[in-house]
Amino acid sequence: MDRTAQLVARSTERSIAYDPSGSPPSLHVRAAKVLEDNWTGASTVPSRSLYPHQWSWDSAFIAIGLRHISPLRAQKELETLLAAQWGDGRVPHIVFNPSVPLDAYFPSPDFWRSSTAGRTAGAPRTVQTSGIVQPPVHALAVWLVHRADPGLSRARGFLTRLYPRLAAWHRYLLHRRDLGGGGLASVMHPWEQGMDNSPCWDAPLARVTPAPARSFRRADLDHGAPEDRPTDLDYGRYVRLATDYREGAYADGSGDFAVEDPSFNALLIASEHALARIADELGATGTARRARAERLTAALIERLWDPEKAMFFCRDVRNGDLVPERSVSGLLPLLLPGLPRNISTALVGTTTSEHFGLGTSTRLVPSYDLLGEAFDPHRYWRGPAWFNTSWLLERGLRTQGEHRLADGLREAVLDIAQSSDFAEYVDPYTGEACGATGFSWTAALSLDLLHSQTEPTAVNEIKGGNRG
Ligand code: SER
Repeated sequence: MDRTAQLVARSTERSIAYDPSGSPPSLHVRAAKVLEDNWTGASTVPSRSLYPHQWSWDSAFIAIGLRHISPLRAQKELETLLAAQWGDGRVPHIVFNPSVPLDAYFPSPDFWRSSTAGRTAGAPRTVQTSGIVQPPVHALAVWLVHRADPGLSRARGFLTRLYPRLAAWHRYLLHRRDLGGGGLASVMHPWEQGMDNSPCWDAPLARVTPAPARSFRRADLDHGAPEDRPTDLDYGRYVRLATDYREGAYADGSGDFAVEDPSFNALLIASEHALARIADELGATGTARRARAERLTAALIERLWDPEKAMFFCRDVRNGDLVPERSVSGLLPLLLPGLPRNISTALVGTTTSEHFGLGTSTRLVPSYDLLGEAFDPHRYWRGPAWFNTSWLLERGLRTQGEHRLADGLREAVLDIAQSSDFAEYVDPYTGEACGATGFSWTAALSLDLLHSQTEPTAVNEIKGGNRG
């Protein structure tokens, strides 16, 4: 057996035998089983029922958890996604599995028509994808996956192969998507930011004429309760925006919807820090990337921070205004190591305030303001708590030295992930399950928190510390 084959075999053994929790391994084993059941051979579906293909930011979060049970599978997860990257650098939000029937998910490949409508933008010819993107968590995930087994990673050339793709992805976002001209990336569709029907989009979406309801058939309602999902009116607008983008050959710049979002940009900055570490590891220097991450942090503060409300808000690029809705997205810049102390202190205060209730009224931080008019504890992104945002907040609180709050949040995530059967999202007060169960990122990020007791925080791993 050559060296790479030995490392691959060792990684596979670890996936079966390794249980670090020391206590009865139920959560670890159950989470690992969810990921096993949702593995297709090359990537992991977010949910066998609702989301039967590969989703971009799901895969990044999944890889972050998967690295603890199989670094090899975690590497493959990210390699499969990045193999579907377009020539212009965009990483598509869905990579379609050709063996899944067209009517299992809408919008299906025949809606996006990536290989024809996306030809000018460099869409791949053989694999079918969507044409929009999702938050750039990928460089962070690649770095964390590398750190889980640096020997395997080096033997497989994992970083060497993925670094140019990640660099092109960030270039796309920073150049093609700086629609506001202030240095930040804009999203052109609510699905790009990932929090589909957040009340933050209500005002910017109001100017979009919905596609007629009879022109498409939603597949999500076959699997999810209508009262937990976006409305038909929302869907009509999502379809209109995506249709217009496709009809314009996926060229960036026009379109009725363009928003600078705090979490999308905070993740881009965290990933830029991770790319700097990857560059260092490959023997180049990450200095220019670190400087860029600092500049982006300054732009995020200048364009999206409201000192009076102690909150980051979205900016509607089409009219130039901040959107005055408080969403969990505006708390996620806590993840950034370069956040000035006065801002991080104020933001932690908002997290524990009556708007979000961390450590007081809620078990997990809601996706939207508890006091907001649109608050609904069960409807998709209009109030329920999600596990990816909880994980990011837990990491963010540790970055800012708030270990007591982070410990409480970690415990709640592990408890509710287990009791909800790895739900897609939950009622923030009670932890009651909503949406799908057996949800991959819920299982993966719980696994990561289980292991995080003995590991440095994600951001320490980005910023410095021991070389792997
Ligand atoms: N989250 C969107 C959906 O529900 C798009 O990925 O399909």
